[in-house]
Amino acid sequence: MSKDTKKVIDLLNEARSRELTAILQYMVQHYDLTNQDYGKLAKVLKATAIVEMKHAEALAERIVLLGGTPTSKPDAEIKKNQMIPEMIATDIGLEEAAIKMYNDAALACADARDLVSQDLFEKILGDEDGHLDEFTNIKEHVEKLGNVYLATLTGAGE
Ligand SMILES: [Fe+2]
Ligand SMILES: [Fe+2]
Repeated sequence: MSKDTKKVIDLLNEARSRELTAILQYMVQHYDLTNQDYGKLAKVLKATAIVEMKHAEALAERIVLLGGTPTSKPDAEIKKNQMIPEMIATDIGLEEAAIKMYNDAALACADARDLVSQDLFEKILGDEDGHLDEFTNIKEHVEKLGNVYLATLTGAGE
């Protein structure tokens, strides 16, 4: 295996660890919010976690194809029992960190002349941009409207 391939596999695995953290974090929030009857917000978190699962899977496929072994370790502790504003701040932090890392990784893959991996990072980046936008909107609504907005997040989710 070339040094460049090894470097790309390491980047893909770093990203996979990040995705595994996001999956676990968003699903914990999904269960907490479901318990607290914030069904609508719970549903958003579950849908986001499922997108992260697809990212983790796509990264693993690429790692295997390159001859590496996909990691199964998340890269951070999962936060529990947070209130909604703290949950959203956690999520914004995860998405911002992922966006920074994936931008750098895409450029490093180009340097390593692996444009397929670069393309994978760019595709995932598009989804993370969407997640960041969605979480930022929620944060702004909570800040501007407080309990009035939180009341709209209750009810049946899935
Ligand atoms: Fe992701
Ligand atoms: Fe995301």
